[in-house]
Amino acid sequence: MTIKPLLPLLTVSLFTLGACGLEKPPTKIEFPEDKAAAPVAAAPAAPAAPAAPAAPLDPKLAAGKTLYDASCASCHDTAMMGAPKPGDKANWAPRIAQGIATVESNAIKGFQGKVGMMPAKGGSTLTDDEIKSVVNYLVEVSK
Ligand code: HEC
Repeated sequence: MTIKPLLPLLTVSLFTLGACGLEKPPTKIEFPEDKAAAPVAAAPAAPAAPAAPAAPLDPKLAAGKTLYDASCASCHDTAMMGAPKPGDKANWAPRIAQGIATVESNAIKGFQGKVGMMPAKGGSTLTDDEIKSVVNYLVEVSK
C-alpha cells in the first residue's frame, strides 16, 4: 500500500479541521457534574492552626541557654536523677525561694538534693560566672 491514495482524504480532513477552528466557540459550556463538584473543590482546606511562635528569648538569656544546652541539658532536660527541668515552675519555685545566691552556689559547688545529686558545675569546666548565667537562664524561664 502506498500513501498516495490517502492524500486527498488527508487534505479533506485537514480542511475540515481548519474550518472547525474558524467556527465561533460556544461562549460557555456547562457540565452539570462540574457544578456538583465545584463546591467541594472550592471549599478551602481548614487552615492549619499556626504554630504558636516561640517567644523570642531575651538575648541576655540566650548565652546562658547555649551553655546550658552544651553542659547541663543531658540531665536537666530529662529530669535525670530529679534534675529540675527548665520551665518546670512547681519544681523551681522552692529552689528559687532559697534565694538566687544559694541556687548559684548549689550549682557551682554541687549539692545533695532530696531526689538526687547535682555534681559541682554539673561536671563541666564552666567558670563560676558562666554557671551563674546558666542559673539566671534557668530561673528566668522557670518562674
Ligand atoms: C549529672 C546530671 C546533672 C548535670 C550534668 C547538671 N545537673 Fe544540675 N542538678 C542535677 C540534679 C539531680 C539536681 C537536683 C537534685 C535534687 O534537688 O534532688 C540538680 C539541680 C540543679 C539546680 C537547682 C539547685 C537548687 O538549689 O535546688 C541548679 C541551679 C542546677 N542543677 C544547675 C545546673 C547547671 C547550671 C548545670 C550545667 C552547668 C547542671 N545543673 C548540670 C543534676 C545535674
